[in-house]
Amino acid sequence: MMPTTEATLTKECYDFISALVYEHSRIRLGPDKQPLISGRLNKRLRELKLSSYEQYCDLLRSPQGQAELSPLVDLISTNHTHFFREIQHLDYLRDHIVPEFVASHPREPFRVWSAACSSGEEPYTIAIVLAEYFLKHSERPWGIEATDISTRILAHAKEGIYRKDRVNMPETMLLHRYFQQGIGDYADYYRVKDSLRSMVKFHHLNLLHSPYPVAQNQHVIFCRNVMIYFDQKTQQELVNKLVQQLAPGGYLMVGHSESLLSVKHNLKSVRPAIYRRVP
Ligand SMILES: C[S@@+](CC[C@H](N)C(=O)[O-])C[C@H]1O[C@@H](n2cnc3c(N)ncnc32)[C@H](O)[C@@H]1O
Repeated sequence: MMPTTEATLTKECYDFISALVYEHSRIRLGPDKQPLISGRLNKRLRELKLSSYEQYCDLLRSPQGQAELSPLVDLISTNHTHFFREIQHLDYLRDHIVPEFVASHPREPFRVWSAACSSGEEPYTIAIVLAEYFLKHSERPWGIEATDISTRILAHAKEGIYRKDRVNMPETMLLHRYFQQGIGDYADYYRVKDSLRSMVKFHHLNLLHSPYPVAQNQHVIFCRNVMIYFDQKTQQELVNKLVQQLAPGGYLMVGHSESLLSVKHNLKSVRPAIYRRVP
């Protein structure tokens, strides 16, 4: 077997790559991330048949470098997510937000935006919560928009196919109602049923670039576990833009390990990591 040699990521190349990633996505890569990034990018170098990071940096600096930004950020960003993550948000959505909305808006469709949706578990979870609610209570049109900067992860999200061990539902009945098990080579996978998939519209979006190609007047925005990667200035800019996208009385959910403490805003804090635009 041929020995596989790994290219060495020098400090100079790492500094260049991290500055570029920051400029494009505001993801801040500290010096401690160098071994992790080197591990992730080595595979990309092999795909491109490049033998050194210097060649990779030359590619990034060249006119073709623009097209390489997307795979670069794809490899670097952390896409960790799972179904029914931070379930308190989902309970609050079901028990407070939706019933109040239905009571106060007799005809309006209910709109939700999952703003950094990763491989789709977050928007499909929201879709399950809403589908269940509207099955048991009054019918109402609703829809979810789901966006992410990573085109690779969005392709996965659109497919809606997950390994069995990744599909953890709080009740088994939800699995039967909203997923179908694969057959043959796909026996270890579940696919989100078309009826649920059709309720989620995925688009590519870099949260740093506005105007956003999503509907105005969102009733709830989930922007969870992405702000943590941004510095305070970028968080401030992002929150300002998200607030503009919310309907009066709409809610913003952030990750429980994030907080808007260092950000100026006029939102009312209603629960940990749940904020409301004053109606
Ligand atoms: C850790 S995942 C969070 C997924 C989901 N919101 C959750 O809480 O489970 C972070 C996601 O943010 C995305 N992301 C990072 N920077 C972004 C940016 N500038 N614009 C849009 N999405 C971004 C990444 O691609 C990744 O899928």
